Amino acid sequence: MRQAFIAGNWKMHMTCAAALRFLEDFLPQVTETPTDRTVILIPPFTALSSLSSAMHGGRIRLGAQNVHWDGDGAYTGEISAPMLTEHGVRYVIVGHSEPRKYWCETDEAVNRRAHAAQKEGLTPIVCIGESLEQHQAGETDAVIHRQVEAGLEGLELDSLVVAYEPLWAIGTGQTCDASEANRICGLIRQWSGNPELTIQYGGSVKPGTIDELMHQSHIDGVLVGGASLDPDAFARIVNYQSFQEN
Ligand code: PGA
Repeated sequence: MRQAFIAGNWKMHMTCAAALRFLEDFLPQVTETPTDRTVILIPPFTALSSLSSAMHGGRIRLGAQNVHWDGDGAYTGEISAPMLTEHGVRYVIVGHSEPRKYWCETDEAVNRRAHAAQKEGLTPIVCIGESLEQHQAGETDAVIHRQVEAGLEGLELDSLVVAYEPLWAIGTGQTCDASEANRICGLIRQWSGNPELTIQYGGSVKPGTIDELMHQSHIDGVLVGGASLDPDAFARIVNYQSFQEN
């Protein structure tokens, strides 16, 4: 059995005060959460230290939203892996579609960031996904194949998470059909060459869709944006229910 990975990506939301208020509401709702799942909060950099202190000794893990490939240097606005591990960060998102779209992040840059993360003992969450135009043109498989080849090049495949996030499903309320997401995640598993690779689905995951998504054979977890900002909704996602086929 692969471990389930449920991560909440807060993007550019939450001050330190708001992050601590979230924890107060969220933590009591996950005390009985089964241990078969890893739960990760991924706040903005500024809230890492407060959350790290507040969650110390608990089972919730901390992630960050980006990492640079150098340990230090003249890179205004960037952050390095040692700066993250100092705060107890264990996971880091690379290649999310927002930096790919707004800052023209390439597969090569994503791969360099992921290498830097692994070198420092961080587990990269490498995000890949096709755009609406590519989806409509039937190019999904080819795009994902290219992103897997370039993005995962040379990485340690057993300390890595891949998040399949179709761009047209992110923040739109339109979740990808669970069986189609499962098909793509199966292809990613095959193309990665690691049958044990941890693969998440991301894109408008909600309390109402989580159980079906987690029932899929190739979906090991979810990367949640909007719904992870609400402690009740995220707790329901973390406490997803496994169900049996009739
Ligand atoms: P969403 O975001 O859940 O708000 O669609 C997912 C993501 O961007 O990781």
